[in-house]
Amino acid sequence: MTANTLTVTDNRTGKQYEVPIENGVVRAMDLRKIKISDEDFGLMSYDPAFMNTASCKSNITFIDGDKGILRYRGYPIEQLAEKSTYLEVAYLLIHGELPTAGQLKEWSWNITHHTFIHEQIKKSMDGFHYDAHPMGMLIGTVGALSTFYKDAKDIFNPEARRHQIFRLIAKMPTLAAFAYRHSVGMPYDYPDNDLTYPGNFLNMMFKMTEVKYKPNRVLEHALDVLFILHADHEQNCGTNAMRSIGSSHVDPYSAVAGAAAALYGPLHGGANEAVLRMLKEIGSKDRVPEYIKKVKNGEGRLMGFGHRVYKNYDPRARIIKQVAEEVFEVTGKNPVLDIALELERIALEDDYFVSRKLYPNVDFYSGIIYQAMNFPVDMFPVLFAIPRTSGWLAQWEEMLLDKEQKIARPRQVYLGYGTRDYLPIEKRKELEGKAATAD
Ligand code: CMC
Repeated sequence: MTANTLTVTDNRTGKQYEVPIENGVVRAMDLRKIKISDEDFGLMSYDPAFMNTASCKSNITFIDGDKGILRYRGYPIEQLAEKSTYLEVAYLLIHGELPTAGQLKEWSWNITHHTFIHEQIKKSMDGFHYDAHPMGMLIGTVGALSTFYKDAKDIFNPEARRHQIFRLIAKMPTLAAFAYRHSVGMPYDYPDNDLTYPGNFLNMMFKMTEVKYKPNRVLEHALDVLFILHADHEQNCGTNAMRSIGSSHVDPYSAVAGAAAALYGPLHGGANEAVLRMLKEIGSKDRVPEYIKKVKNGEGRLMGFGHRVYKNYDPRARIIKQVAEEVFEVTGKNPVLDIALELERIALEDDYFVSRKLYPNVDFYSGIIYQAMNFPVDMFPVLFAIPRTSGWLAQWEEMLLDKEQKIARPRQVYLGYGTRDYLPIEKRKELEGKAATAD
């Protein structure tokens, strides 16, 4: 018997198998040789929601959920949040290394000079209803971009890939801001190439009649930090969607639209929006215990709490709490902060949350900051999608170039009927909960 193997005894046959262990995992395909007969398909693993299945090998993001560690390409998130910028982090995620001064200049120039969107896309934005959710508008218009760039389908051409990467990172803030402007009936404001990535986004969101928009430096920096914190998070639901859709070799705009749709849900990037709605529903600090009681009784979840991977404080939430203080010095304190702090205090002392290792996640405080910065609640998931685009693209490119990857296509455990003969309509009977059956 060799080390780094797993010996499995199939008690159905008494046969023993040796399965190699590499990087702490066994290959599910190695289980297929475990059979009860030659005709047998072979053993599969069953893992709904990928609770214990690695779908890829990756060099991009590392998370240790028990210790509360997050690193991009080996760099601790705390150092990147303190010392880097979002555009530099986007470069790091995609290229694997921090850029030199020259590389950063060229990268920033390329992103800055792809921020405009085709006027026809602007017109398609106009087609949305006045009260359309900005995330729905973003998903629709980013998908529509694929129809404008014919070279987007050329995904195995590194030059063409680079072009779409510039375009997507550059245009997401423009689409996002246009979606917001449309929803409030304001004229669109075009990108300003003199501003930084977050500064230009603030400009496109909030510029009114002034000739030149000057972003508040503290708020611009806070947004940059929030963008860094949201840039990637290994194989979460949205990223898994990006890889899965991209594995069909579709263009990256269509894949980003799908990833953004996955992010939209309240259990994922929509949670920041849900947190604010929850805090509004609670209304005041003294009503927190009553709300916690409801959650413990199974009536809803404490939004912004819990995580599939973090079983300790989410390191991003810790950084966001510091950013919040800087922002509130400029904007004044968001009144819902007191309710959030009280919720956190009570939850972290309560056995229900402690025993399930439920801690605040990135979404618990981010929305409170966004609201203080004047972003409407509907925009919160959009603010998540903008920076996550660089992570999606890094993961997409890694997947495309990984020789082991193929079109994503899980197996299933079929538990339905065996063969049955077609039933003529006059012989079918209605049963409660079932469409039709024979006698
Ligand atoms: N409030 C109350 N109970 C919770 C919560 C919560 N927020 N999260 C998990 N639980 C309970 C859950 O009911 C279950 O209890 P029991 O064992 O008695 O059935 C236990 O904790 C384990 O929960 P789970 O649903 O099996 O955990 P999961 O890993 O499938 O879900 C999660 C992870 C993030 C979807 C979940 O914690 C959740 O719904 N949180 C609220 C939504 C949220 O804040 N999402 C943002 C996640 S971070 C950013 C991102 O990924 O986009």
